[in-house]
Amino acid sequence: MSLENTTALVTGATQGIGRATAERLAADGAHVACADIQDTADTVKAIEEAGGSAEVIALDIRSAGDWSAAVEHLGRVDYLANVAGVVNMISEDSVVGLTEEAWDHVLGTDLKGPWLGMRAVIPGMITRGGGRIVNISSLAALRGLPNLASYSAAKGGVAALTRQAAFEYAEHNILINAIAPGTIDTPILGDITPEMKQANANSHLIRRLGRAAEIASMVAYFFREGSFLTGLTYPVDGGWSAKGNF
Ligand SMILES: NC(=O)c1ccc[n+]([C@@H]2O[C@H](COP(=O)([O-])OP(=O)(O)OC[C@H]3O[C@@H](n4cnc5c(N)ncnc54)[C@H](O)[C@@H]3O)[C@@H](O)[C@H]2O)c1
Repeated sequence: MSLENTTALVTGATQGIGRATAERLAADGAHVACADIQDTADTVKAIEEAGGSAEVIALDIRSAGDWSAAVEHLGRVDYLANVAGVVNMISEDSVVGLTEEAWDHVLGTDLKGPWLGMRAVIPGMITRGGGRIVNISSLAALRGLPNLASYSAAKGGVAALTRQAAFEYAEHNILINAIAPGTIDTPILGDITPEMKQANANSHLIRRLGRAAEIASMVAYFFREGSFLTGLTYPVDGGWSAKGNF
């Protein structure tokens, strides 16, 4: 299915997986609304230089008002990629070491954000006869990992909410899936040492970090193909989730 003459809204489009997704969907023909709490002008410039169509949308995914303003401005959203997210930089992220402030920040961004996004776009999709949504979960939704308590709770919530939304809106021809990435080489990794990078790479059967474009390619698959897929949380993780413990 071509994305020509459609509008795709991508959150987190300033950098990392969101930017790669915006660039990929534009290359596939969509007009891409590049949304982020940071400026997305660079992403829009890169898309336009490559011959695609895009615009900057200033949007904090935690704000219902920002979502309704964006959807009203765009008029239509055929595809929503809920990519923006954060890790806990406020406190330790163990169950006991986590602070309430950090819990509220991570859950308020990584779980509430995608919910507000779906709530904002689904009514228009129903009116127009369908649409597709991809949410970004994490392998942390499926496996216990060190120091990711609030993050795993949020991303587990994204997987559950994706399934629930798929259940509620399949009858309106709205297909909703999530992706659970392994460790992808983006700015979210912060200043980790080369040794830590290598350890992360080694957790995959394919012994390297994933690339943002490899997640974008799965988003494009869910949007362009995937006509019998909904409610999934699909690992794109270099085989991490397939790995035994030896
Ligand atoms: N990189 C990984 O290893 C990895 C693994 C699993 C899941 N993920 C998830 O993939 C998504 C993208 O991560 P990334 O690696 O590209 O991270 P990143 O930090 O490079 O990019 C995240 C983007 O989200 C934006 N953002 C943050 N809070 C926002 C808000 N309130 N409103 C709007 N925009 C906001 C940031 O400005 C940034 O541009 C996140 O949901 C992340 O949890 C990443």
